Amino acid sequence: MSVLLDVKNIYLSFGGIMAVAGVSFKVNAGEIFSIIGPNGAGKTSVLNTITGIYKPKRGSIYFSGQDITNLSVKNRSKLGLVRTFQNLELFKGMTVLDNLMLSRHIFINYGLLSSIFYFGKALSEEKKNREFVEQVIDFLDLSDVRKKHVFELSYGIQKRIELARALCLEPKLLMLDEPMAGMNSEETEDMARYIIDINEERGVTVILIEHDMNVVMDLSHRVVALDFGEKVCEGKPHEVANDERVISAYLGEEKWI
Ligand SMILES: Nc1ncnc2c1ncn2[C@@H]1O[C@H](COP(=O)(O)OP(=O)(O)O)[C@@H](O)[C@H]1O
Ligand SMILES: [Mg+2]
Repeated sequence: MSVLLDVKNIYLSFGGIMAVAGVSFKVNAGEIFSIIGPNGAGKTSVLNTITGIYKPKRGSIYFSGQDITNLSVKNRSKLGLVRTFQNLELFKGMTVLDNLMLSRHIFINYGLLSSIFYFGKALSEEKKNREFVEQVIDFLDLSDVRKKHVFELSYGIQKRIELARALCLEPKLLMLDEPMAGMNSEETEDMARYIIDINEERGVTVILIEHDMNVVMDLSHRVVALDFGEKVCEGKPHEVANDERVISAYLGEEKWI
């Protein structure tokens, strides 16, 4: 098994608050790897250091053997590190198709100048973009709504469009921060199935932050548990669920379960 992501002893603080205090873990290529922990444990902060939104105060992060600790968010996304957000960030007045095309233009930019001077190239790029987007639309069963405006659609579908937008960036490592938050049980099941399909059929490695333990148990190959910015435990889902330290942290936090 090859290591795709290697997080080495990272620290991150906000003012006096130590959000992440010496966290290390490795994610293997092809895994669904979950990060669990109570509110404020540092899950999102860890994710933000991986995407590059925050730079860790100490420690380093390697992706495919390359030190990415000092790379910009954009350069990391070009390497294939892609995240979705806890809150929806779609252009609600635009159609599903336009949102997806736009995400490719922003992140897989072939440049305004090249569009002017190499019009032919730009056209063929555009055709490729369109084909890629249409294929993602098919994959996530969004064909029926592709010409609809995002605001017209249900919350569950909007979250799926957010996932489609991430897929349009051709992730190698897809990071999902509470993708089921606010969903009903049917929407949650759908989302779980799409995450599995993305992992199995497209070969995308996934980091999942999720508070619903049933989802974590069903989807994850391995799990790391955080509490107060530190790693409490790491292992297979059933190992983590039965770990003394995790159980005692859970007991203090009913909402973990
Ligand atoms: N931008 C920020 N400014 C100040 N404090 C923050 C910021 N982001 C997170 N924190 C703090 O860092 C800690 C970890 O937060 P977070 O990573 O969001 O936890 P989780 O995602 O596990 O709920 C919390 O104490 C939180 O209040
Ligand atoms: Mg969070």
